[in-house]
Amino acid sequence: MEKLYEGKAKIVYKAQDPDKVVIYFKDEATAFNAQKKDVIEGKGVINNKISSIFFQILEKHGIPTHFVKQLSDREMLAYKTQIIPVEVVVRNLATGSIVKRLGIPEKTPFNPPLIEFYLKNDQLGDPIICYEHILALNLANDQEIKTIKELAFKVNQILKDILIKHDIILVDFKLEFGKKEDGNIVVADEISPDTCRFWDAKTGERMDKDRFRLNLGDLAKFYEEVLRRIENEKD
Ligand code: TMP
Ligand code: ASP
Repeated sequence: MEKLYEGKAKIVYKAQDPDKVVIYFKDEATAFNAQKKDVIEGKGVINNKISSIFFQILEKHGIPTHFVKQLSDREMLAYKTQIIPVEVVVRNLATGSIVKRLGIPEKTPFNPPLIEFYLKNDQLGDPIICYEHILALNLANDQEIKTIKELAFKVNQILKDILIKHDIILVDFKLEFGKKEDGNIVVADEISPDTCRFWDAKTGERMDKDRFRLNLGDLAKFYEEVLRRIENEKD
């Protein structure tokens, strides 16, 4: 297959169908803008499965996504999109970068949930930007930003409600949006424990990439546990 793009955790290949791509999930884990790196055996397989389930859940709830189907353990078929170079973060509870940036206590609840935009630029370490930057830099137009915000908040509500049934708190997550050839904006990239923060509602245990960022260990075990809890939700 012809490689179109290789990122830190995934490779995108051309698919037979010209309007689709094959996304391959790797085992590489990076954090802190790739200053910390490792290979965690099996991570790609679990993230492909979890992402596929989340995309199916979202589609079922009327959210447009790039997902077509899971092809194999590590491969997902998706619509080809032009990725909008903005990382969209939704936060329900304060942790991670916002705690440092704003000096607020850990676990401060955000009501309503907080949405933030970051410029997708590894060299600059994905700097935080706001609505006006997106407009002025022509990254998306007003209507597209409105759509992105609406979709991000809906995704938050849908996933939060489903996860809590399985004793998982959706703390925060990052989405990427793509524009399909027909111009429609869809949720793209992946939705996995690499791109979300999940806390066990009973024990408070971290079930996401913070296990790697903070050297807590047992990453694959906790990712597997997330998968086990949500597995039946796609049906
Ligand atoms: P942050 O607290 O480090 O800003 O992260 C917020 C959320 O975004 C968290 O769920 C992890 C996710 N995230 C990514 O998916 N990719 C990234 O490059 C970063 C920095 C965060
Ligand atoms: N994925 C980003 C990196 O490689 C950062 C992160 O998720 O913490 O560095």
